[in-house]
Amino acid sequence: MSGNSFGKALVLTTFGESHGEAVGGILDGFPPNIPIPLDFIQSELDRRKPGGSSGISSRGETDRIEILSGIFEGRSTGAPIAFLVQNRDHRSEDYDELREIYRPSHADFTWQHKYGIRDHRGGGRASARETLARVAGGAFAKLLLNSAGIRVVASTDQIGPFLIVREPSDLAAGLPGVLTGTGVDQPDREFSSIEKPRSTYRSPETGIHTPVRYLRSDPVVQHYLEQMMAEGDSTGAVVFCSVTGVPAGLGEPVFDKLQADLAQAVMSINAARGFEYGSGFEAASMRGSEHNDPFTFKEGRIRTTTNRSGGIQGGISNGEEIFFRVAFKPIPSLKIPQQTVDKAGRSVILKGSGRHDVCVVPRVLPVVEAMTALVIADHLIRYEATKALMGE
Ligand SMILES: Cc1cc2nc3c(=O)[nH]c(=O)nc-3n(C[C@H](O)[C@H](O)[C@H](O)COP(=O)(O)O)c2cc1C
Repeated sequence: MSGNSFGKALVLTTFGESHGEAVGGILDGFPPNIPIPLDFIQSELDRRKPGGSSGISSRGETDRIEILSGIFEGRSTGAPIAFLVQNRDHRSEDYDELREIYRPSHADFTWQHKYGIRDHRGGGRASARETLARVAGGAFAKLLLNSAGIRVVASTDQIGPFLIVREPSDLAAGLPGVLTGTGVDQPDREFSSIEKPRSTYRSPETGIHTPVRYLRSDPVVQHYLEQMMAEGDSTGAVVFCSVTGVPAGLGEPVFDKLQADLAQAVMSINAARGFEYGSGFEAASMRGSEHNDPFTFKEGRIRTTTNRSGGIQGGISNGEEIFFRVAFKPIPSLKIPQQTVDKAGRSVILKGSGRHDVCVVPRVLPVVEAMTALVIADHLIRYEATKALMGE
C-alpha cells in the first residue's frame, strides 16, 4: 500500500489505525534549531480531539503526544522527528458487528475489495483518527512558518445551509487575514465575487444585498446541530482557510503548482468533497474584465488591488493572502438505521451507532490548517534552497 507519505522537501509519513496500539508519524526534512514548545503541539492536538460540544461525539479520547526523536533541549535537531499518540479509548468490541458489514459511504467496501483484509475496528487506517498525526506534523510546520512570519488560519464558513461569520474569537486569538478574506476590513479590495452568498438580505434603505451570515454560536445554528443530533442524523460543512505573510515565489510552475499541492493536501482529508481557491467556481460565470486582478505599486512592492487569484498566479504565490475553501460531506455514521449489505452481498439493516460526530467542524479546522501548513512549509524550504543556489 503506497501513499502514506506527503511532501517533497518536508515529508510527513503517518502510521497507525484507529484501534491499534498508536497513531503517529515521522516528519523528515524539518530544519534544525527551530524552537519546539511541546505544549503548542499538544494544544493543536487538543483542538482536534472529540469533546462534548454540539456537533462533536463524546468519545473520551485523551491524545497525549510522545516525541521519540528529532528534538533536543527544546529545539529541532534536523533529524527525523518521530512522534506517536497511544490509543487508549479502545472499546473495540463496539465494532464487532461491523466485521462482516459494509457501512454506507465509509471506506469499508473499497478497502476490503482492494486489499482483501480490513481492520474493521472504527474504520482502522481509514478512520479520521489518522488525522491526529497530520495535526501533530502540521503543528511542527506551523512553528517553522511562524518563524518566517506566515500564519495559517481555518474557520467555519458554512454548516449545513447556514453561512457562518468569522468568529470574533478567531480574531481575538490574533488570527490575521480571516476578515481580510471577506473584504470586510479592506474596502479597497473586492471579494464580492467569492462571497456571493446562498441567501441574501436586501436592505430596504439601500437596496443592497448582503449575505445572511450567522455566528456559529447563534441559536439558529445550535438548534440545527442539536436537531441533527436528536434525529441521529449529520450535516455537511465548508471550511475557509487563509494564509498570510507568504512571500511572492512559493510554488512551482508545472505539476507542483501551489494550488495543486494545497488541493491534494486538503482533498486527502477524510470526508472532503470540494476545493476552490480565490474566485473558485464563481470564476466560470465571470468576464475576464471583471475577474483580472489589476497590479499596483503599494507599500514598496508590487501588489494587486483585488485578489481573485487567491494569492497564487501560475502556481506561484504572488505575496497576497492565499485563501481557499473546502467542502465536507455529512458524517456518514448515523444513529438512524441504514440499508446496506454484508460481505456476501446479503441485505442487512445497519443499526445506528451510539458514538458519532454530527459535523466535521470544528474538529477538522486544525486538520485543514495542518495540511496547509505542511504544503506551505514544504514550498518555503524549496524556495529557500532555490534562492540560496541563485546566491540570494
Ligand atoms: C475530523 C473528522 C472527524 C470525523 N469523524 C467521523 C465520525 O465520528 N464518524 C464517521 O462516520 N465519520 C467521521 N469522519 C468521516 C470519515 O472518516 C470518512 O467519511 C470516511 O473515512 C470515508 O472517507 P471519505 O468520506 O473521504 O470517502 C470524520 C472526518 C473528519 C475529517
